[in-house]
Amino acid sequence: MHSSWSSSSRIFPSGAYMRRLICFKVEHHHCQIEKMVSSDKGKVCVTGASGFVASWLIKRLLESGYHVIGTVRDPGDRRKVSHLWKLPGAKERLELVRGDLLEEGSFDHAVMACEGVFHTASPEETLVPAINGTLNVLRSCMKNPFLRRVVLTSSSSTVRIRDESQHPHNSLDEAAWSSVQLCEKLQLWYALAKISAEKAAWEFAKENNIDLVTVLPSFVIGPSLSPELSVTASDILGLLQGNRCTPFQFSSIFFKKQPLKKFHICY
Ligand SMILES: NC(=O)c1ccc[n+]([C@@H]2O[C@H](COP(=O)([O-])OP(=O)(O)OC[C@H]3O[C@@H](n4cnc5c(N)ncnc54)[C@H](OP(=O)(O)O)[C@@H]3O)[C@@H](O)[C@H]2O)c1
Repeated sequence: MHSSWSSSSRIFPSGAYMRRLICFKVEHHHCQIEKMVSSDKGKVCVTGASGFVASWLIKRLLESGYHVIGTVRDPGDRRKVSHLWKLPGAKERLELVRGDLLEEGSFDHAVMACEGVFHTASPEETLVPAINGTLNVLRSCMKNPFLRRVVLTSSSSTVRIRDESQHPHNSLDEAAWSSVQLCEKLQLWYALAKISAEKAAWEFAKENNIDLVTVLPSFVIGPSLSPELSVTASDILGLLQGNRCTPFQFSSIFFKKQPLKKFHICY
């Protein structure tokens, strides 16, 4: 949440071949974050607060002293949110408010007065709600005069699904995009939704001068704070139960959640 970094970055924290670039950025930012955390503990919003990634992110933000507004579809659903209330600092600095990606204006209240918005919520494998939901959050951000940066959790599936015969020696970095045609051909609807949502976010951010960063994790593994299974955990369980998968579905490199929450905060 700081403005000294060039705006508009895609962060691809999974490939070994990207490690140098990522390490440089993390080191570069880490001291700035520490400085910022110790001097200015602002208010930030995390959408999809009950989720696997968001729960860890909220834990880290609370530990760093931020005031966190988390959005969930039903703040009264104890099964989904009780783990959040057990986090250190939650009683003092966490608020859970309602936010539904499918409802226009649903995030107006949540993002208001927040300096940073971490948009992690994602409807499962659905194209139009993924695009509209992301734009919905960004439209709410536009109404907030205090906004400094939006961090969108996208996916490595927006980068790595390419016809290798057409890109034989290309390494992947944040400039690469997955092939929409190949995703359609292989019926990779989740990837298609993430590509479309991220592209829509970049277009909207550029048109409206929003400082946007996208984080592109692959499979995030590690202990879950929530008792619920994340989408990825369900997919992996499905594999163990003998479900079939496409070659691209599980082709990415596993990425532990420990550094991921730092990537979200550092950028
Ligand atoms: N986990 C991974 O390995 C991985 C890898 C790459 C990218 N990602 C991306 O990282 C983000 C978080 O993933 P995750 O694994 O933490 O997912 P998750 O545990 O399934 O959480 C997603 C959250 O999205 C919220 N949500 C779903 N539909 C919604 C709607 N219509 N309105 C508002 N909220 C809605 C749900 O919150 P409620 O039901 O409580 O409202 C849910 O807690 C996603 O954008 C995902 O695409 C994850």
